[in-house]
Amino acid sequence: MPGPILKFENVSLSYDGKLVLDKINLTVNAGDTFILLGAAGSGKTVLLKLAMSLIQADTGRIELLGHDITHLKETELFGIRSEVGVLFQEGGLFDSLNIADNVAYPLRNQKKLAAPEDEIAARVQESLDFVELGHTLDKFPSELSGGMRRRVGIARANVTNPKISLYDSPTAGLDPITAHTIMSLIVKQRELRKTTTILATHRYQDGAMAANYHWDDAIHDVVRAVPYGTYAALDTTFIVMNEGRIVFSGTQQQLETSRDPYVSQFVLHQPPPKIGPSGDRGQQLSV
Ligand SMILES: Nc1ncnc2c1ncn2[C@@H]1O[C@H](COP(=O)(O)OP(=O)(O)OP(=O)(O)O)[C@@H](O)[C@H]1O
Ligand SMILES: [Mg+2]
Repeated sequence: MPGPILKFENVSLSYDGKLVLDKINLTVNAGDTFILLGAAGSGKTVLLKLAMSLIQADTGRIELLGHDITHLKETELFGIRSEVGVLFQEGGLFDSLNIADNVAYPLRNQKKLAAPEDEIAARVQESLDFVELGHTLDKFPSELSGGMRRRVGIARANVTNPKISLYDSPTAGLDPITAHTIMSLIVKQRELRKTTTILATHRYQDGAMAANYHWDDAIHDVVRAVPYGTYAALDTTFIVMNEGRIVFSGTQQQLETSRDPYVSQFVLHQPPPKIGPSGDRGQQLSV
């Protein structure tokens, strides 16, 4: 597709007279990964909601997948939204639906994606297999752990094979091992299905993993793309937001060398790698 996947031009939004997004400019191209960092209330979720027009901007212009979506009607948005995957901050699974029906939801509720039930079942199975939860079809969300529910959310976001996926705080509240699994699945989706990725997070490690790790299908796991102590040239842009403004946009290396006191609070500087007797690097350095 020519042109950017997503573009914000001078986008602003206020709630109750308070500016929550202030002249946001952003261009996301096919294959890019964007990491949105920022304190609670800095505007990450609002930005993601605007990106798929769940809410509307006061001023500015938003382009998604080649369409100007700034003032489109709901009915006109359906087709465009069907090409966007989303994992909401609170997970957003329906407690009353089993896992299969939760994952099938975007397929059944978007006209453009209408398909016979057996095809829907096959895609649901494939999506759940992708996150290694193919055996949970008949379970209900309350029967799964928090980490498993998050994986179901990833399966649901990507069941439509979207061009772009928006993940809002996918690792929030998870232990470090489960958070690593979630990020591995996001990297896997990005690379095996060529999904442009935007991820809002408080965890610097999530961004570092997106920027430095590849999915290796042969070993069925993520592997580091470059040696420790060097920076990957993967297409990952870090954005830092503060009170509705983008106060930093750049590479991981630029972020780590920023002298801005607010920006540098989001950087977790890695200790030098520990080399064991066998030359192995410690597991704790896996981001
Ligand atoms: N529907 C709404 N009505 C009024 N204010 C809102 C609404 N939605 C968001 N806000 C305000 O917009 C600002 C940005 O909120 P947002 O949810 O985008 O923050 P965030 O960066 O996602 O925070 P967190 O890291 O806690 O998820 C906050 O001040 C919030 O109170
Ligand atoms: Mg949020």
